[in-house]
Amino acid sequence: MTRHFLDIHRLDAAALRGILDDAHARKAARKGWPKGRVDADAPAKDRVLAMVFEKNSTRTRFSFDAAMRQLGGSSIIVNAGDMQLGRGEPVEDTARVLSRMVDAVMIRANRHEDVENFARVATVPVVNGLTDRSHPCQILADLMTIEEHRGPVAGKTIAWVGDGNNVCHSFMHAAPLFDFRFRVACPAAYHPDLHDLARGGDHVFLISDPREAVRGADVVVTDTWVSMGDQDYEERLEAFDGYGVDDALMDAAAPDAVFLHCLPAHRGEEVTDAVIDGPRSLVWDEAENRIHAQKSVLAWCFGG
Ligand code: CP
Ligand code: NVA
Repeated sequence: MTRHFLDIHRLDAAALRGILDDAHARKAARKGWPKGRVDADAPAKDRVLAMVFEKNSTRTRFSFDAAMRQLGGSSIIVNAGDMQLGRGEPVEDTARVLSRMVDAVMIRANRHEDVENFARVATVPVVNGLTDRSHPCQILADLMTIEEHRGPVAGKTIAWVGDGNNVCHSFMHAAPLFDFRFRVACPAAYHPDLHDLARGGDHVFLISDPREAVRGADVVVTDTWVSMGDQDYEERLEAFDGYGVDDALMDAAAPDAVFLHCLPAHRGEEVTDAVIDGPRSLVWDEAENRIHAQKSVLAWCFGG
């Protein structure tokens, strides 16, 4: 069966644990190496990854390209607006054609259904590089970062403060599978999707007060208040007043709590300079870990 990586909850706990363990091992094995050197086992040797972007990207774009090089393969990167997809060619036809030309496809799409429809007809692995609904690759990098600095994520408490968005959804999907508690503090109008919330089961807690949500937490996470595609900028800034992460909020978390943000950050909105540039912030390790986590996702897709 073709191994797609569309959402965290589509894999079982053992497969996810295997991917994360592989990511830790691959990162350790290449410590001090130049970034272009190929891993000893080269699991993507002779393989080509196509990357299709309907939205902007810095981290996802560079990390997948670097990942394929380190795995011994190569990649082709195209903005959807430059493809016939951007002129209305159906995603299914695009999937049929790309399946004949490359060995895997990563897509960043406006609509989650488009990635699902692409994968339904693709005969090569498809990886979700962010949709309006979820961002599963990001969460693997986040969990990897937590484990590097604080040990196994199982049993930890992670507090999300801000918008109940795509990144928040993927955390909720991951909570029962990696066995961590996930507290979400967001304004009522911007709470997470209820289906995604339900996937978190008894591992996810909706708490309206940010201070209450972060109390004693091991990790505090936030993201932009205005995601790509959101139109209501002014309303959002107003609604999220009081949901910014500052030092006072971090002080309410556990004494050794760490701060994560998938980036890009909007300093002065969802997070202060002092927090994101301060000693509790792990955001640069988190960004780097996109490469390591995605290498292991790709290796899994290729059958590793
Ligand atoms: N975090 C993340 O996905 O960043 P980009 O939008 O830059 O890819
Ligand atoms: N929630 C953000 C994440 C960016 C990586 C967005 O969708 O724009």
